[in-house]
Amino acid sequence: MTSSQTAPWWQAAVIYQVYPRSFADSDGDGIGDLPGLIDRLPAIASLGVDGLWLTPFQPSPQVDQGYDVSDYCDVDPTFGTLADFDRLLAHAHALGLRILVDLVPNHCSSQHPLFRQAISAGPGSASRDWFHFADGRGENGELPPNNWRSVFGGLAWDRAAPGSQTDRQWYLHLFSAGQPDWNWRNPAVGDLFEEVLRFWFDRGADGVRIDVAHGLYKAEGLPDTAFSGGVIDGLRSNPQVSDQEPVHTVYRRWRRLADGYEPKRLLVGEVNLEPRRAWRYTRPDELHQAFAFAFVHLGWNAEAWAAVGTELERTRQLSGVPPTWALENHDIVRTVTRFGGGERGRARARAALLAMLGLPGPAYLYQGQELGLPEVDVPEAARVDPAWRRGGLCRDGARVPLPWTVDAAGAHGFSPPGATQAPWLPVPADWGDHAMERQRGDAGSARQLAVSALRLRKDLLRTGVFRADDGAQWRVDEGGCLICRRSGGVTVAVAMGDVPVRLPPGELLICSRPAQEPGWLAPDTAAWLLGG
Ligand code: GLC
Repeated sequence: MTSSQTAPWWQAAVIYQVYPRSFADSDGDGIGDLPGLIDRLPAIASLGVDGLWLTPFQPSPQVDQGYDVSDYCDVDPTFGTLADFDRLLAHAHALGLRILVDLVPNHCSSQHPLFRQAISAGPGSASRDWFHFADGRGENGELPPNNWRSVFGGLAWDRAAPGSQTDRQWYLHLFSAGQPDWNWRNPAVGDLFEEVLRFWFDRGADGVRIDVAHGLYKAEGLPDTAFSGGVIDGLRSNPQVSDQEPVHTVYRRWRRLADGYEPKRLLVGEVNLEPRRAWRYTRPDELHQAFAFAFVHLGWNAEAWAAVGTELERTRQLSGVPPTWALENHDIVRTVTRFGGGERGRARARAALLAMLGLPGPAYLYQGQELGLPEVDVPEAARVDPAWRRGGLCRDGARVPLPWTVDAAGAHGFSPPGATQAPWLPVPADWGDHAMERQRGDAGSARQLAVSALRLRKDLLRTGVFRADDGAQWRVDEGGCLICRRSGGVTVAVAMGDVPVRLPPGELLICSRPAQEPGWLAPDTAAWLLGG
């Protein structure tokens, strides 16, 4: 079998999401950077994951922590240089870790040279066609062109030249005012992004994560959207800006481009849609993966998980691509807190993590999830999330710098000792309790559970017990026990009710809590079982 015939590496891969600002700060400015990440790559490798996805490190005014890109083909000096990126790639590859770069094609920064040029070129110029500029309504253009709302709250429009008597235009930004949306109906935009993809793939990046992958195209003519009595919250409830058919043409082109590399490059999309729409993004000639966010919106409820699991299995059969599991990322409240906080939240988050790693399909872990970090209630004065500033939810609590050491110096080892700046978000007083160094030596820690699960997962894949194309049958057993049975014969069980439940038959492979009473699973505990 030649290498091009073997199954691609990502089919059952586990990828670790790095939020570079909060991973490791090498120069003491309070912000994580690529050299800091390079130094600590061994900690990621020792977890046993297959690769890393880095949230944006490209040049950016950092209005939305890097999701406002002003140059798609460079590294922001805050994070390092292109030479650092090359070093990162080389070190990661030497450790057997793949690297995915974040690609933000829906919008750029209002400081991007093409947007600056569009603003100064004025209404009617070809430069404005790169973005969505439209005349304001009202006698003097004082009203926005339509009723669309920003995902972060407020209008999705701002004046191109506030106060101007001659320029009545507004520009569209589905996120903050610092993030103008590209006009994908202009073919030049597509050409630009193909160049960007080639830039990172030619450098050796193993793939890209595509931000707001279901956005990109807006309904022709930018019509008002219907208010069905509720609020139009930017993307999720505005069909005019989401899931427009031409977006699939983009992914078909990108798939051909990614497949043209040896080895092939991976495309994973942030497709924030219901499973019945999201699966279409992973048809055979489109993206390889699309995050299955469906569980993220569910509480600790076996029926709800089984229903969503069943729906995802149905879509797997339609696309031939398994769900890409993710329970946390930098936009979502940490699972420990989402599932109730405290001891109970910690137990549930561990159970959920073990369950996820046992499901058929690739999975993404968010930095700190392996440490069981809770969401932090960042003091209001220290919050920086533009979503919160515009009246939306605050996502800073999931972005607090990682604790490396028990000792508090350098924000628990995030920054070097003697750092000149405090970390960009304050770390809580008890952060050292979760420190990596403490968990490393503790067989009962959250991190150790993740290490054991990842090791076992690899073994089961190697011996063919886990297969990349396994299907899944979901059900709920007595006492609120969620069951997912893989077609290869492994069962994942999660006790989601309030009472201990009988374990399904089979050999117990791993359990999220030690010292279980034989044959029983305590509440808020997960296990994998073989056979039965
Ligand atoms: C994605 C990112 C989020 C960002 C938004 C706008 O949802 O994950 O952090 O704010 O896109 O780019």
